[in-house]
Amino acid sequence: MKETLIDVKDLCIQFQTPGGTVKAVDNVSFDIKKGEVFALVGESGCGKSTTAMGIMQLIKEPGRIAGGSINFEGKDLLQLTRDEMTQVRGKEIGIIFQNPLDSLNPVYTIGYQMTEGLLVDKMDKKEAYKLAADMLRDVKISDVEERMKTFPHEISGGMRQRVMIGMMLCRNPKLLIADEPTTALDVTIQAGIIELMNELRKKYDSSILIITHDFGIVADIADRVGVMYAGNLIEVGEVFDIFDNPRHPYTRLLMKALPTITKEEGRLETIRGSVPNLAEERPGCGFADRCPYARDFCHHQKPELKQISEGHMCACHFAEGGLKDEQ
Ligand SMILES: Nc1ncnc2c1ncn2[C@@H]1O[C@H](COP(=O)(O)OP(=O)(O)O)[C@@H](O)[C@H]1O
Ligand SMILES: [Mg+2]
Repeated sequence: MKETLIDVKDLCIQFQTPGGTVKAVDNVSFDIKKGEVFALVGESGCGKSTTAMGIMQLIKEPGRIAGGSINFEGKDLLQLTRDEMTQVRGKEIGIIFQNPLDSLNPVYTIGYQMTEGLLVDKMDKKEAYKLAADMLRDVKISDVEERMKTFPHEISGGMRQRVMIGMMLCRNPKLLIADEPTTALDVTIQAGIIELMNELRKKYDSSILIITHDFGIVADIADRVGVMYAGNLIEVGEVFDIFDNPRHPYTRLLMKALPTITKEEGRLETIRGSVPNLAEERPGCGFADRCPYARDFCHHQKPELKQISEGHMCACHFAEGGLKDEQ
């Protein structure tokens, strides 16, 4: 059994808004092993990015971490001082976002930004330059010497995302968080980025937390999956288990909403309704209002995340008994 790298337990993150307390992440627990790719999936607004920002401790007002622990290599990230957390960020855990321009500084060259973090790690300038250039080659950037001198806005979106991945991997983080890294890119470039991440993951043996709403990406890269709905983790398991035997109605519908998996050609099934307002108290299952299988009690009793087979957990009152497909 592989060693655990990060263990998130009962994480709660809330935003105080005029409309009430938004429970964006509500008692979420999962772990990621060394060298493993864990995917968090779910529709928009389910709490995926907030979970990632919580791990990085980048939650800003009106948000706060309301509870839980994040054990990373023997230390609870939530107990670290601001300075200690700054050490972890970038060096031990790197994050890339959907839009690399959010993290790249427009006024500095790519070379400057690639080496900046390495210099913080006390590497000498020449060595840092060489490592950054090698890393750019690793992320399939050509004319590296030239590229080091260019500014972020002078290259394409796909190339920027490659640079961002390279920049993060330069410092050899133990965990790379990628929040919808390909969502803003067109499909062929998307595939290239995922292929690149797969290659790099083997080469550097880093653990990856990838956030996506796309089960196609999950199939291409992940070892294990956590499905999030309305701030809760509602199903967790090995990729094969989730694809072969999804137990939560939401997971099933989410998979059907994927064009490459749906059987009816050209017709994309959508999940009726929308994610509930997370500021409202929901005594029952968060998915009950949209669930084709819901019974009365589903609206009143919240199902717990329970183990249904080795390594496969699901939070649905019907997870163990199974769901009737004809419904
Ligand atoms: N700064 C904020 N203020 C208030 N609510 C927020 C803020 N950031 C996120 N939320 C809420 O938290 C919930 C989860 O958002 P998010 O983590 O971005 O979802 P996802 O990444 O799955 O699309 C949403 O209901 C969103 O409206
Ligand atoms: Mg998001």
